[in-house]
Parts: sequence; structure tokens; C-alpha cells
Amino acid sequence: MKKSASVEHNHPLFRQVYEFLMNRMERGEWGAHDKLPSIRLLAEELKVHRLTVFKAYRMLTEDGKVYVKDKSGYYVSPVSGLPSIEEGAAVSAYALTNPLSDIQRVPTKYQFSQALIDPGLLPNLFLSDYVKKVFDLYPKVMGTYSSVQGDEELRETLSRHFRKKHRLQLSSEELLITSGAQQAINLIARIVLGPMDTVLVERPTYSVAMDVFRREGARLIPVEITPTGYDLEKVEALMKKHKPRMFYINPTHHNPTGYTVPAQQRKLLVELAERYRCLLVEDDPFRDMYFEEEPPPPFFAYDTEGWVIYISSFSKYVAPGLRICAVACRYPFMERLITAKSLADNGTPLLNQKIFLHYYTSSRLQQHLGKLRIALQVHKEIVEEELAGTGWEWTPPQGGLNLWVKLPDHLSADRLFASSMAESIAFVPGELFDPLGEMKSRIRVSYSFASEGVLREGIQRLIAIARGL
Ligand SMILES: Cc1ncc(COP(=O)(O)O)c(C=O)c1O
Repeated sequence: MKKSASVEHNHPLFRQVYEFLMNRMERGEWGAHDKLPSIRLLAEELKVHRLTVFKAYRMLTEDGKVYVKDKSGYYVSPVSGLPSIEEGAAVSAYALTNPLSDIQRVPTKYQFSQALIDPGLLPNLFLSDYVKKVFDLYPKVMGTYSSVQGDEELRETLSRHFRKKHRLQLSSEELLITSGAQQAINLIARIVLGPMDTVLVERPTYSVAMDVFRREGARLIPVEITPTGYDLEKVEALMKKHKPRMFYINPTHHNPTGYTVPAQQRKLLVELAERYRCLLVEDDPFRDMYFEEEPPPPFFAYDTEGWVIYISSFSKYVAPGLRICAVACRYPFMERLITAKSLADNGTPLLNQKIFLHYYTSSRLQQHLGKLRIALQVHKEIVEEELAGTGWEWTPPQGGLNLWVKLPDHLSADRLFASSMAESIAFVPGELFDPLGEMKSRIRVSYSFASEGVLREGIQRLIAIARGL
């Protein structure tokens, strides 16, 4: 296993081995004075060079976590600062972080850090009609578990919908209902990834997905995404060199940039995935949030060999409170996914699935969607109007919920973030979305959550703060 040149200055391989060992010690797999695996064994297990393991052990020794006994090997230091196994308190997982959620948890008046829809734009009143209908139709719905894979009626309906709308060749057996895309990403990562496995991710990408992959101990290799998609020659070179287990993509109204990968690249990338046996995990929660033109078909539509897993969350724009998402994939992967889902929660709540089903199949949903698209476009234009003339730059998105803004050189995103949070304005610094932790002149402004008036006022205040820096 070779180092990724693009990642190494940020997460050198020996540092990842260091963290891997620390994690296992923290979990209590090895206690004080326990012997650690030999350099040779660990190098074989992790498929890295022995020198890499040696460097990790040397660093652990320098940090006092491990000590060396002559000719015998490495042992856990009693003064490592790690809780003992007896205390049973060590639960920290491998690189357990979620900085996006940390930002979003801070209550702010001007909330531009959440890629969520203003609850006022959702058809809240109508939803109560569907709740009533569901209880009339299925009086025992509260007393019943859903099947692990998801309600059969819902899967039938969604498979028909996907066949008709996106030309996906799909049966209800090839769909799993999860609680949001977040759970789907989590389950897939659990199934596919092990420590030191390689994952290709777009640069930038949805930061929480990176957090999930890192928690599994995976190595992330960035693939630049631009308004014209990916450089497929580079992708092929990376697949050839690193043999990644998967490529996580969000190719339609991408978060955070809003870019959409063009149709002609979709088929080609699926062919590459087949050739290099690399799963494409296509996360597609923003497809219906387009402004003018419908986006190209999902990658899944081009897949004939089962190398694409399609995650279609409805939790952004139908009813976030229901957290309904459909995952499409072929067998035998589906078997594993169902098992992982059963271990996670034994099935998404049936009530949520039935309410969603009856709402989703209604004509009201289509009316709602049409209005929502217009409202989102208006929101986007408010931000663009206010930012015009500031020298801040962005590529106007054709859909989605975010503006990916480049600040002028003299303006630091970190300073702007600190000052604006102090004034109750939240956005997300670009570096969070960057697998390399750079992109410090970028910020993500979500225009979908705040109401129009609050949005305009907040952006004006943000600009005023930037001018004072
Ligand atoms: C690209 C992407 N994937 C997944 C999610 C999570 O979606 P869900 O609410 O369905 O869990 C988000 C939320 O912002 C997202 O932007």
C-alpha cells in the first residue's frame, strides 16, 4: 500500500497507523503492559511497509504511550494516560469527530450553516391529513414493526417511481428503506470499510461522510470536483494505483458546491468503477431541487454489473421529520445491507414509512415541489443580489441548497467565522469539506433554511462584518 501524495502532508500513513493503534488501546483491546503486535504482523495486517509501522511505534514510544523491551517488542505503557480495561470507560472510536454538527448545534439567529429547508416552506398543515389517513387505513400501525428492509408497499411504490422517472431497472427487493441518507452512508461504511482501506472522495465533499469513513479507519483520497465534473483520467489513475474500496460521490447539485456532473461522464465513471472493482456510492438527496432544468439520470441508471449503490433521501424536502431514504443496490450486497440495518435498528419506524407513502404519492407533493423549487431559487437570488459587488465569487448553482463562496484573498474565513458567530450568524468554513483540510478561502452559505427576510438581513450583516475585518 503506497502513500497518497495528496494526502500525506495532512495524514501521513505512519500517523494513521499511530491513530489506529491508539484507538485500539483506547477501546481497551490492550491494557497496561500488554504486548503489542510485532512490526511484521502489523505491516502484513494493514498492508503497509514495515518502516511505516516502525515510525508509528517510535512516535508512540516518544509520546509515552508505549515502551520497548529489548528484543521482545512493544508494550502498552502503564502511564499512557489511557483508561484501564477494568474501568471499562474507554469508548472513544477511531477518529470520532463531526465538526459540522458541532457548528450546527450552536443556536444562532442567522442560520446559514444548515443545508435544510425552511420548515415554513414545507406543507406542514397538509401532512396532518395524511397522518389521519394512515391511522384510518392501518389501525394497527403503531403496534407493528416494519420489516427490516422496509415496508413492502412503500418499496413497491418507490421502485415504480424510480423505474418511471429515472429509468432505473429496479425491483422492490432491490430497495432498502433507511432513516435518512446518514444512516445509509453509515451502514455502507460499516459493511465495506476496514482500517486503512482506501476511499475516493470528492474534494470538497459532504464532511459528515468523511467523518464516517474516518471513524472506520479509512484513508481518504481526494478527487477534485469542478463545474465540469471530474478529471476521469486522474480518477482512473487513482483507481489503478490505490485500488479503493469505494468512491463516495454526490454528483447532482453537490454539497457544498452545487455542481452537477455532466451526463457523458456518468456512464464513463460507471465503466471505470466496473473495471477497477470500486463501488460507486451515489448520494443523491438534492436531485429534485433543481431550478430550471432537470439534472441528468443517476449513475445507477448506467450500472449493469452492480457496482453502484444509489442513496435517495427524501428527508431534505418531503418531510425531514420522517427521515425516509431509499437505498438501491443489487444482490448479494443487499443481503449484507439488510443485515447491517437489522443490527442498527431492526427497521425504520413503520408509521413514518406509511405517512411518507401516502404523502409522496399524492398530487399535493408535486404542487409542493414546484413551489419549493421557486422558493429556493428566490432564496438563492437574495444571497446573490446581496453579495454582488463584494468581490466574493461563486459559480451560480443550478439547484441544491448552498452557495460555495470564494472570499477575496485578504479575507480569512476563520476570522470571518469567529466574528460572525459572535454576532449570531452561522455558516460553514470551507476547510471542513476538504479532505485535505485546506480551502481556507471558501465558505458554504446555505440559503435554504432562513426565511427570506432573515436571509437578506443576515447576509447584509455578514458583509458588514467582513468589511470591518
Ligand atoms: C450530501 C448529503 N448526504 C447526506 C445528507 C444527510 O441526509 P439525511 O438527512 O437524509 O440523513 C446530507 C445532509 O445535509 C447531505 O448533504
